[in-house]
Amino acid sequence: MLKKHRKVLLVGDGAVGSSFAFSLLQNCGIDELVIVDIAKDHAVGDALDLEDLTPMMMPAQIKTGDYADASDADIVVITAGVPRKPGETRLDLVNKNTKILESIVTPVVNSGFSGCFVVSANPVDILTSLTQHISGFPKNRVIGTGTSLDSARLQVALGKALDVSTSDIDAYVLGEHGDSSFAAYNEATVSGRPLLSLSNATDEILSEIEEDVKKKGGQIIGKKGATFYGVAVSLMKICRAILLDENLVMPVSAPLDGQYGLKDIYLGTPAVINASGIRQVIEVSLSDEEAAKMQSSARKMNEILLAAE
Ligand code: LAC
Repeated sequence: MLKKHRKVLLVGDGAVGSSFAFSLLQNCGIDELVIVDIAKDHAVGDALDLEDLTPMMMPAQIKTGDYADASDADIVVITAGVPRKPGETRLDLVNKNTKILESIVTPVVNSGFSGCFVVSANPVDILTSLTQHISGFPKNRVIGTGTSLDSARLQVALGKALDVSTSDIDAYVLGEHGDSSFAAYNEATVSGRPLLSLSNATDEILSEIEEDVKKKGGQIIGKKGATFYGVAVSLMKICRAILLDENLVMPVSAPLDGQYGLKDIYLGTPAVINASGIRQVIEVSLSDEEAAKMQSSARKMNEILLAAE
């Protein structure tokens, strides 16, 4: 049986997009990557630079193009957007990036694209929701990086604090990818044991870690001007789960349809991801305090969504 042609269209070849492309080409066995960016010379240069890795890793055709090239793509990845400046919140970007998003999604849909959208542009929960709204695609085929990056940051911080490997830590950050996100400690485990049962996981340490994780994006931006490696690998893992039909469980910005008592909203929660996009949204068992934080995050998202439309 012929191997299915695996094609990804990347919209936005800035630091995140380029880092994503670098990771995608080394981990997903794709056949074709098309890069779309308004800075056309930069995109051409990046495509030429990236193709030089293919003989050493996996063969792939890399080129620049436009939205019409989405017609036979499996995935359209949207990283394009105005990045946060030091001191800016993700929600400050809503109106700027909503206009950019509209100029992308409509021509992609008009190309006949019938795959999955994967979004990282911020504010990612809002822009993922707007991508679904503008495209009219089934909600399971529009996925945002959401709190995948925050959850990775939580694992890093817990690993350091508890002196354990991050691979032994099963813990999620839920809600908005932003200031109203929270660590779902209630169901977190370390080597299969409840995190909250560990004597060295004190309330004080866990509370400090939760705050540090929320601030880490802004901290990195303040030091180096942007963040891109972590979110690029989040994008790659989502794409690989779709392309290889992995049934991977990971936290993403997913469409809630009753989970946590919430509907018609995208928020960070674990989901099962496979060739269909989101196969299943997983509801984490929350403490009363955590459930209240989820409701608060949802209220904040809805307020912004209403203002953005
Ligand atoms: C961050 C960006 C991706 O948190 O929002 O690093």
